[in-house]
Amino acid sequence: MYSFINDYSEGAHPAVLDLLIKSNLEQNAGYGEDIHTSKAKEYIYKLIFNDKADIHFIPGGTQTNLLVISSFLRPHQCVIAADTGHINVHETGAIEATGHKVIAMPCKDGKLTPAIIQAALDYHTDEHMVQPKMVYLSDTTEVGTIYTKAELSAIHHICKLNGLILFLDGARMGSAMTCQENDLELKDIAELVDVFYIGGTKNGALLGEVLVICKEELKEDFRYLIKQRGALMAKGFVLGIQFEALFCDNLYFELGAHANEMAEKIAGVLKELGYSFLAPTGTNQIFPILTNETIEKLEKEFVFSIQKKMDETHSAVRFVTSWATKAESVKALCDFFRGV
Ligand SMILES: Cc1ncc(COP(=O)(O)O)c(C=O)c1O
Repeated sequence: MYSFINDYSEGAHPAVLDLLIKSNLEQNAGYGEDIHTSKAKEYIYKLIFNDKADIHFIPGGTQTNLLVISSFLRPHQCVIAADTGHINVHETGAIEATGHKVIAMPCKDGKLTPAIIQAALDYHTDEHMVQPKMVYLSDTTEVGTIYTKAELSAIHHICKLNGLILFLDGARMGSAMTCQENDLELKDIAELVDVFYIGGTKNGALLGEVLVICKEELKEDFRYLIKQRGALMAKGFVLGIQFEALFCDNLYFELGAHANEMAEKIAGVLKELGYSFLAPTGTNQIFPILTNETIEKLEKEFVFSIQKKMDETHSAVRFVTSWATKAESVKALCDFFRGV
């Protein structure tokens, strides 16, 4: 069976494993104070053109989200997110469990806009309600769309006007930064948001995310907060080594581009055959709308998930490609559709 179920089914890119093996018998300092973590940071500083940012390596995405949100909000404050946002639908109430409400706003194509953020602000008027203090975005979004520079700048602007912390979840930053429509670079993101993370788990690392805190006021004592949430790993060098391998050259971006290219091939064939999609495509997740009959046949040969029931006879399915997706799997899927 060929699997298009997610982008974290495979282990790590060989270059990541090579560096882990090469450094295996080294005796490294603990808790991220090793030379590999420092090197990884140096590479990332160059990409974001900001060596004043604080960089931390965190094992997982949900952990990063709850760490950031719970650390930067005061007890009465909440975070605004798209209704489809990962923190709203796929984190088992992790944010709410830290005492902060997620204000989930209905959105088109998984994207917040200044108007939507304003609507959330207008609705929260006084101390009888939670106070919006943060905006959570993800790039790519949960439905595979991306933010343009103009869109992110507009969101930056409304956040600044209203004293909101802007947090961007980049679990799929590799795919976002390398898709054709993208006009953002990491340095733009570092300028426009207060805090963001660059995902490794879904782009060639065994696991791990790089958290970048750009806003000065948010930096204080963050290592204490990481430790208190159980996310400061004694063997932090295992994360540092992986990101050193991913960022010492262009590998991180090459892997994202590969995942996108594989998804584009599938999307291209589906478009040619007249299928429609739940959301515009371009990154490594695509959501074609298929008949129940096609889905049943497809399930015999491929692994994928159902995203949304559209009506009694149709559902949008989700195909995800990764840094490791092989051209032969893509060909098999395309051949299936050509034969339907
Ligand atoms: C946008 C986004 N953020 C965060 C996560 C959470 O990552 P993890 O499963 O490592 O906690 C995911 C995982 O799918 C994700 O897609």
